[in-house]
Amino acid sequence: MRKPIIAGNWKLNKNPKETAEFVAGIKGKLADPAKVEAVIGAPAVDLQTLIDAAKGTDLKVASENSYFEEAGAFTGETSPKVLAEMGVDYGIIGHSERREYFHETDEDINKKAHALFKNGVTPIICCGETLETRKAGKVNEWVSGQIKAALKDLSAAQVASAVIAYEPIWAIGTGETATPEQAQEVCHLIRETVAGLYDQTTAENVRIQYGGSMKPANVKELMAQPDIDGGLVGGASLQPDSFLELVNYQG
Ligand code: G3P
Repeated sequence: MRKPIIAGNWKLNKNPKETAEFVAGIKGKLADPAKVEAVIGAPAVDLQTLIDAAKGTDLKVASENSYFEEAGAFTGETSPKVLAEMGVDYGIIGHSERREYFHETDEDINKKAHALFKNGVTPIICCGETLETRKAGKVNEWVSGQIKAALKDLSAAQVASAVIAYEPIWAIGTGETATPEQAQEVCHLIRETVAGLYDQTTAENVRIQYGGSMKPANVKELMAQPDIDGGLVGGASLQPDSFLELVNYQG
């Protein structure tokens, strides 16, 4: 049985003071960790504050990006080894904003996944199509291609423990949430792609999130879909109250 995972992605928001205030606002109000995993992904400059503030709570911590080298002449990058030493639990990689604005390729993301696993950090691997790709009827081809490239040479055990986030680009930050049926269709495709690359057991174990304007008003119907195991949430994760509504979606 896959444990649901609701993760916030703060993107470029919050400073350390606001980070500590956010955690103080959710302390003691998260759902039973046996029923759902709550994660916050924060900018690198906030991670140590987040890790320290989350101590003694059930909140897990994610980085929003990391490099595929652990050290060296890579100005401005973040080391997966250091993230692990700090105590980061998950590492978001391949977000569409990284792919678009920072020109990250599928190969970059595959190397980042290997580097995170090597350091004991679980990757949250993002994929998703543009509206043009959807209108052209090429969603399956596009998303399955992203998955195959991102998982290249990862073991079945690694993939089974990973998280994949399906984030249709046209739904990110737009308020245009995919319908539960649209989200389920692609999350099922992702699971089938994993089954074809590995085996049915691996496919049944990997957790697949939906991201793209998930909010308290639609979390229940999205999470009711058989192949949706969680959410990767931007805007609605920035405030403690809405993040708590998302994490407590089971009531
Ligand atoms: O990574 C999550 C993000 O891309 C979704 O953003 O604001 O549409 O929930 P938002």
